[in-house]
Amino acid sequence: MKKPVKVAITGAAGQIAYSLIFRVASGSMLGPDQPVILQLLDIPDALEKLKGTVMEVDDCAFPLVTETIASADPMEAFDGTDYALLVGARPRGPGMERKDLLEANAKIFSVQGKALSEKASRDVKVLVVGNPANTNALIAQSNAKKLDPRQFTAMVRLDHNRALSQLAAKTGSKTTDISKMIIWGNHSATQYPDITHTLVGEKAAVNLVDQEWVEKDFIPTVQQRGAAIIKARGLSSAASAASAAVDHMHDWALGTNGKWVSMGIPSDGSYGIKPGVVYGYPVTCANGKYEIVQGLSINEFSRSRMDATEQELREERAAIEELLK
Ligand code: NAI
Repeated sequence: MKKPVKVAITGAAGQIAYSLIFRVASGSMLGPDQPVILQLLDIPDALEKLKGTVMEVDDCAFPLVTETIASADPMEAFDGTDYALLVGARPRGPGMERKDLLEANAKIFSVQGKALSEKASRDVKVLVVGNPANTNALIAQSNAKKLDPRQFTAMVRLDHNRALSQLAAKTGSKTTDISKMIIWGNHSATQYPDITHTLVGEKAAVNLVDQEWVEKDFIPTVQQRGAAIIKARGLSSAASAASAAVDHMHDWALGTNGKWVSMGIPSDGSYGIKPGVVYGYPVTCANGKYEIVQGLSINEFSRSRMDATEQELREERAAIEELLK
């Protein structure tokens, strides 16, 4: 049996975590031979509820779970952490402006970035799920002076999976037949789900669907899927968000064998997106590292969509700039 690794999950008493913790504990994320120590973090007011979740984890008698820690202190919860899934965030309250939401979250993610920098494994892999995910990841990364910025990522995998599912339904194929899907930019309504390089089996997706469907149906459906789920369920997507988080970390840790996936990562100038934001890119993963898929042709339509979502990220950044010091 391998040595256990430490997996921290924040927002551990919340609804995404109620699915995520059990998927991680069962081995979906890191494989059926990788024992885990669960480090669960939430705020003091949620600790009683979290106790109930921990009781349920115990009651599953998962063979891979060697220990479960529940805490309201990031310095304790991130001690030696190998994988950090930052799910907990401040939801938008009544009358709260976008800037207020950004600032409230900025405070949470600056504290957590500092704690990760001090306490986590030097090789920690961090995935930010809590919204606004890209900018929260930027804040955590900027506050983690002792870690490499590339260790901080944001989740656009749910959008990627939603795009696969929509295209599969439209073309009468299976999601596993589809490759080279891309989500560019922000996990928000400006994200750009791009099928210009996508294959369905051996065929180019753009030859199977028309541009009108792409612009009027596919892109808005993927962009607005979160809102559609809230409308239907009365609650935001949780199990699908947890599943996407599992996919993101699984692929980053264990590799994609050449398959493209989408990850929000610190921009490095690739595709004209200057450094300073966390931006969704197509990547491949191997040996615990991700690499941006380079050399793709970008048409005029794609360029304008990619620039629009970058612009939104720059505006989010401007709203919390002082917390990036
Ligand atoms: P939830 O409200 O059910 O749970 C959030 C939990 O975070 C609560 O238990 C709360 O006490 C905790 N929390 C708040 N501040 C914290 C802090 N400073 N430290 C630790 N825990 C803290 O929310 P849910 O449904 O689990 O969603 C969590 C986040 O994920 C939200 O921001 C949501 O918008 C986001 N989300 C992101 C998606 C993505 O694709 N990136 C998809 C779906 C949701």
